[in-house]
Amino acid sequence: MKTLIACYSYSGHTLKVAKKLQKKINADLTEIKTENDKWYLFKIWDSFRANKVPIKNCTTDLMNYDGLILCCPVWAGRTPAAINQYLYELKNVKDKQFAVFVTSEGNKSQKATIQMREYLDAQGMQFVGQMKLWTKDIDNGKCSEIFNIFSMKFIN
Ligand SMILES: Cc1cc2nc3c(=O)[nH]c(=O)nc-3n(C[C@H](O)[C@H](O)[C@H](O)COP(=O)(O)O)c2cc1C
Repeated sequence: MKTLIACYSYSGHTLKVAKKLQKKINADLTEIKTENDKWYLFKIWDSFRANKVPIKNCTTDLMNYDGLILCCPVWAGRTPAAINQYLYELKNVKDKQFAVFVTSEGNKSQKATIQMREYLDAQGMQFVGQMKLWTKDIDNGKCSEIFNIFSMKFIN
């Protein structure tokens, strides 16, 4: 099974986990990056309104893949605007597997995983699993159990 990990990360925590996962399951990794940075409050606003922002060139065509793992931080309880744009640009996704994971500061309710799942379900993709990690656990290296359970879903 050939898997693409597509990662948006602003301050590096999500990317750190994505890179570890890439090594563990032997996947490809594409980094989602915005064309421009915005002030904190605009980031919140865009996430809250489910806006999109221009992103740099990255892998959006799943033609050569069997599955996608999409990952990002939670912003304003939701997906960052870069993820909304990435979802919009995705191609050749039907009947392929997908999983999502998010990182966040706290245990507050978040809609980011639901947003990604609902969108990809609606495109005909098959949900395999999800993971939510806390930033402090990534910093302290305390998320190996949940990480191992999640990664097993992608090891042949
Ligand atoms: C604009 C912005 C909004 C955020 N909103 C939330 C939030 O609603 N809930 C939360 O738990 N953490 C929130 N965070 C914290 C991040 O989700 C968290 O630090 C995450 O692990 C950062 O991932 P990264 O290092 O990959 O960018 C926010 C951070 C930023 C910059």
